[in-house]
Amino acid sequence: MNTERIVQIGPSILTANLLDLGEEIRRAEAAGVDFIHLDIMDGRFVPNISFGPIIVSAVRQATTLPVDVHLMIEEPERYVEDFVRAGADRLTVHVEASLHLHRTLSRIEELGAMPGVSLVPSTPLSAITEVLPMCGQLLVMLVNPGFGGQTMIPEMLNKTERARGLIDAVNPDCLLEVDGGVKAENLGTVLAAGAETIVVGSAIYNERQSVADSVAQLRQAIG
Ligand code: DX5
Ligand code: ZN
Repeated sequence: MNTERIVQIGPSILTANLLDLGEEIRRAEAAGVDFIHLDIMDGRFVPNISFGPIIVSAVRQATTLPVDVHLMIEEPERYVEDFVRAGADRLTVHVEASLHLHRTLSRIEELGAMPGVSLVPSTPLSAITEVLPMCGQLLVMLVNPGFGGQTMIPEMLNKTERARGLIDAVNPDCLLEVDGGVKAENLGTVLAAGAETIVVGSAIYNERQSVADSVAQLRQAIG
């Protein structure tokens, strides 16, 4: 079902040891991850506050891997330029947060980054059909965004499957990314639903095992 798709795994640094961020990224790189995911939270679109362009820029300097920035902020159009200049290769905004989404995505493309669009669990897939042709990435949230370490909402697997169908029909080059609650135990079902770009936070950065062991376990689950 998913055999020809190239699966990419990227750690979300939200649960990494931020005091040791350079090493945390090197550990993930050495373990063979494919990109680095940064969760930007503004305390309005989501209840939590994380970090901004300064950290993106620091990460950019610490890695040659693609830097995948997920903006969980209101009116992301006000900041897309800052984040692309800070080094985002892929910049994802939420359909719920940007009224003139078409303009926002065009601007990201114009600035030279890959435009991505995301939806929270309660937003129907139909909300992104008009903009899907201009996206390099569609991010289906498997949890309500705001915090690492949550449990995947099982109904989101069906949404991921429908997103796969829509992408195949409308823009097959668009990557299908999922984020939230992914771990070795459920990775198989997520891949079977058609996801190819997998964000993993707490199942990579945790106190139970090393980053290398966590990534190896995920790779094993990919098969
Ligand atoms: C949720 C974030 C995710 C999250 C992933 O708001 O967008 O990237 O940190 O972490 P886990 O894998 O722990 O759910
Ligand atoms: Zn994220």
